[in-house]
Order: sequence, then structure tokens, then C-alpha cells
Amino acid sequence: MSSTTSRFTLDDRLPAGYFTETLHADVRAGLGTAPRTLPPKWFYDARGSDLFEQITRLPEYYPTRAEQEILERRAPEIAQLTRAATLIELGSGSSRKTRLLLDALTAGGSLRRYAPLDVSGSALEEAGRAICRDYPELDVRATVADFEGGIPLSDEPGPRLLAFLGSTVGNFDREQRAAFYRTLARALSSDDVLLLGADLVKDTEVLLRAYDDAAGTTAEFNRNVLHVLNRELGANFVPEAFQHVALWNAEHERVEMHLRARTAQTVKIPDLDVSLDLAPGEDLRTELSCKFRRESLTAELKEGGFTVRHWWTDDAARFALLLAVPN
Ligand code: AVJ
Repeated sequence: MSSTTSRFTLDDRLPAGYFTETLHADVRAGLGTAPRTLPPKWFYDARGSDLFEQITRLPEYYPTRAEQEILERRAPEIAQLTRAATLIELGSGSSRKTRLLLDALTAGGSLRRYAPLDVSGSALEEAGRAICRDYPELDVRATVADFEGGIPLSDEPGPRLLAFLGSTVGNFDREQRAAFYRTLARALSSDDVLLLGADLVKDTEVLLRAYDDAAGTTAEFNRNVLHVLNRELGANFVPEAFQHVALWNAEHERVEMHLRARTAQTVKIPDLDVSLDLAPGEDLRTELSCKFRRESLTAELKEGGFTVRHWWTDDAARFALLLAVPN
């Protein structure tokens, strides 16, 4: 029997001081713009990750189940089409959907390595070891990295299938997506394949309910970013003094989450030496969740260096999973 230790490695590529420096820079930059913004990646401390897991099980939050439905149906086809030797997963998070791919790729006989990349070392450690245990023929090479700046790939056996699931790509605006596709295109070679999950434009009420659920879980998730700033920057945000707002931005076809100051308030952020005056009703924009259409997503991928070869949706056409190859 092969041991899980020798088949599992965790490579930390984050520069020393990454968290503090990036958080400081992000918050300083975001609070200086109009509207004020906070990047969504700071939602995901342990509590935020747990709240997101709860969101994926809410009746209103359909994207996770819709993507799961597509993967259940299409994973064998994806395995056959790609014959991937390495599955690279960006922002791996929970591994339920990953396992559908791993099952199909190991059943197809091509897969040798699973290479997850995430900013959270603890999430990688936990998920990576479990996968190591359950897939005794696989090497698991986990990398702690912020893939926005570049994707650290090295000697993975090819062809490689790079999966970016959950419509996390929707957190990027148009310019950020263009830069991201270029980063991907630089990292991948001609026999590699991109598997991208993307939530689709649909009825506004359905979209907004998914981001403003009856149980209030998404509201808690949204306010969690203020708890993170209080803890990490010594700030004194009163999370309950902010209303959770989900709105549809029709011009950019995206759901936005905001935190709206219920009253005028002054927030101190000692670690940044900042005192923030908020007007009553003033918003902090905490997340973009862009929704896509087949034509425009195909076009922007083309522009970014990828040709879409396959496009699959769930039965209700709420969500798309696409397979694209470098141009
Ligand atoms: C993890 C970015 C895909 O945008 O739908 C869920 C995060 N935010 N509810 C999304 C989220 C509010 C989610 N992504």
C-alpha cells in the first residue's frame, strides 16, 4: 500500500507577509474609490468559508446544484475528450464537484496527478489529504498561491485539464477577466484544456433571491468581511449597523452585494491609520457576481486566447460548463 504522505505535497508560494500586505493595500485602495469597495476574497476566513458552504445548500442558491448536475452528466465525456493526466484546480474550496471529475478521469485511466491551487493552506491540507486517501493511484501536489498574479505550474504530466468552477470567474469585472484569461493562456500549452463554470443571465427575481436568501445566511456572509477587518486591522465596524443589499446591475449584467450604512458613522481602522466617515445610506460594494451569455463569453474567451469547443448547461439552462482550448 502506498502511503499518503509521499503522494501528498503542499508547496507554499505566497510571499512572506502576503496576507497583511495585500489586505492593507486592498482595503486602503478600496475605501478610497467611489463607491467604496472591498474585494470579495476577504470574505473567506474560516467562518466565511463555512457560511459559503451553508449558502451552497440554500434552496435559493441554485448555482452549485446546477453545476453539479452538469458535472454528474458530463464528467465521463470530459474525461474522454481530454484524456487528462493532470487535473489542475484553481480555488479548489470544497471537493464535492472535484470528485466527480476525479472519478471520471481515474475510471478513464488517464489521470495521474491532482494539483489544487488555493490561497488557503489549511483548506488545501484538509481536502488534499482526503483525496490522497480516497484515490490511491494519484499524486496530489497542492500549491498555496494567489493565482491572480500568475499560475505557478511546473512539471505536471500532460495533457492538463485546468478547472475553474463555481462561476468564481464572475467575481472579476471585464478587465480583470481579460487579464485572467491572458494569465491562463500564458500558463497552458497547446494540448491543455480549460474547464470553466459560468452562471448565466436569467430572471432578475431568481438571481436576486440567490443573493438575498430568506434565512439571512448571505447577509451574514456579506457582513463577515467586516468581522475580518475588525480582527485583522483592529477596526471597529459594527456589522449590524450595515444592511445587506443585493442588486441587479443591468448595464453590466451582474449581481452586486453591498453593505449599506444604516446611519451616519465613523469607523476607525487603526492599522491603516484611517478614520472613515460614512454618510447614512452610503454603500460599501463587497462583491460583483457577473452573469454570462453564451455569445459574449465565447467572444471574450476568444479575445483572451481560448476557443470554446463544448458548452453544456443544466436542464433549466441556469448555468454553463464549457471546455476551451488555447487558440
Ligand atoms: C463563490 C463567487 C461563485 O458569486 O455566487 C455566494 C459567492 N456570494 N453568495 C457567487 C457568493 C454570495 C459566489 N462565488
